[in-house]
Amino acid sequence: MNVLLIGSGGREHALAWKIAQSPRLATLFAAPGNPGIAECADCVDLDIADHQAVASFCREKRVDLVVVGPEAPLVAGLVDDLAAFGVAAFGPSREAAQLEGSKGYTKALCAEAGIPTAAWMRFDDATAARAHAEGRPAPMVVKADGLAAGKGVTVAMTKEEALAAIDDCFAGLHGAAGASVVIEDFLEGEEASFFVLADGKTALPLVTAQDHKRAHDGDNGPNTGGMGAYSPAPVMSEALVAQTMAEIIQPTLAAMAERGAPFRGVLYAGLMITAVGPKLIEYNVRFGDPETQVLMMRLDSDLLPLLDAAARGVLAEAAETAGPIWSDDPALTVVMAARGYPGAYEKGGAIRGIDKADALPGAKVFQAGTALRDGEIVAHGGRVLSVTARGATIAEAQARAYRAVDAIDWPEGFCRRDIGWRAMQEKSS
Ligand code: AMP
Ligand code: GLY
Repeated sequence: MNVLLIGSGGREHALAWKIAQSPRLATLFAAPGNPGIAECADCVDLDIADHQAVASFCREKRVDLVVVGPEAPLVAGLVDDLAAFGVAAFGPSREAAQLEGSKGYTKALCAEAGIPTAAWMRFDDATAARAHAEGRPAPMVVKADGLAAGKGVTVAMTKEEALAAIDDCFAGLHGAAGASVVIEDFLEGEEASFFVLADGKTALPLVTAQDHKRAHDGDNGPNTGGMGAYSPAPVMSEALVAQTMAEIIQPTLAAMAERGAPFRGVLYAGLMITAVGPKLIEYNVRFGDPETQVLMMRLDSDLLPLLDAAARGVLAEAAETAGPIWSDDPALTVVMAARGYPGAYEKGGAIRGIDKADALPGAKVFQAGTALRDGEIVAHGGRVLSVTARGATIAEAQARAYRAVDAIDWPEGFCRRDIGWRAMQEKSS
């Protein structure tokens, strides 16, 4: 098979690394890719916002499957437009991508299908939103309705913070994404990331993972795209997985099929495990970053047949013949970010030692925001590397990942030193 992977982050490097190992692969292309992805794929300079150009490339290169990494092209309808040109793609349609593209869409679906989630209201103007917030007890959560690159959510510990977040949204801080605002109750519990592959009818759960969203040790500091992750997530017992499938995932897939927008691709449920069971915080319609890096490290079987089957609506058959087979060994990834992230940061610092880190037992460095300058890898984004390792225990995976981090010479970078702390605590208790 010829495959085109869309995206350029650590998630896509992990997917490329895994797809490149498939016996079914002929050529892997990536658009736009990054220097890490270029080690396992042909990176091509395609404007992914130009859907017709992507389709023409696929025809010319006889691409059998397009795998879409990030949410923006999905919400923009890339998969629909490729389908119109007869090109198969892994990922949801424009309408099904609304599960991530609009928080209000998902909340309305939860109400309709009886899916447990925080109580919420949506507002199109500041006066009504402020009046609602005035009448609610803090803490509460204020969210821009649309895609805001992970920055549209404020967990407001006080009423004043909530009012300020409402004003920011309606003042245009998040652009069009903030034209309407969802205000919801604060949920207490432990968060987990839960992924299923879906083909519109069948859902296949993947192993569990958990990420660390806060920038600093002890889960303090501002929210980020994710500073590290590990798999499995001890909080997600088998019983909780079954409950999540029955109460959240299956009703969602059934409701989407009923709406005429069957969900195909990977559905990522952000969950809060509360005292009364799992509740949906949000859906994403793509793999998590950096959770994908640890999932791919634990996947011992071929990924490509599963992605292909999900795209073609034959996932049940593929699951019987093609796994997935997961290693029992945990995996853990540490994100190295540019100093200052998620605020302002500098680009361009040289990064050395990736090869040394890769050579360590069980370790693999996935590249995210990197670029090549005069033959040298330099930092080119906020989250720059995902230093990942597998081990016989979570403690070994953690020790190996940090050994690999310490092999990397990048003075302008930083990372958390406590990724996996919760899993280590639960293991030893
Ligand atoms: P979201 O983009 O909706 O996943 O929100 C980003 C982060 O904000 C989540 O990962 C949670 O840590 C937090 N969050 C969002 N909604 C809630 C909620 N209702 N209660 C508590 N925390 C929340
Ligand atoms: N790890 C969080 C995300 O991918 O959105």
